[in-house]
Amino acid sequence: MLNGQQKSITANPLSRLIDLLRNDFQLTGAKEGCGEGKCGACAVLMDNRLVNSCLVAVGMLEGRNIVTIEGYRETEKFSVLKESFCYFSRILSVGFSPSMA
Ligand code: FES
Repeated sequence: MLNGQQKSITANPLSRLIDLLRNDFQLTGAKEGCGEGKCGACAVLMDNRLVNSCLVAVGMLEGRNIVTIEGYRETEKFSVLKESFCYFSRILSVGFSPSMA
């Protein structure tokens, strides 16, 4: 499953998940940073666990549930996270406004 939809692909089992997502499914939310599992720019959820997609081989995906940021932003959890981020951003922007100096 990819973002809640059943998907079937034919790909080299040694190719990387990040390349599959970005090149074959045009899901570009996961970015390639370091390409070696250190930065997390390529993070996705695999069976509800955060993984670095640059380290996941396509051959490991059978029966797995993958959620990218594109799928996650459609969830209620993301709505709560977004509202909280906006709320605290407003607090920080007021707290550090030039009028406070
Ligand atoms: S690109 Fe940096 S952890 Fe995957």
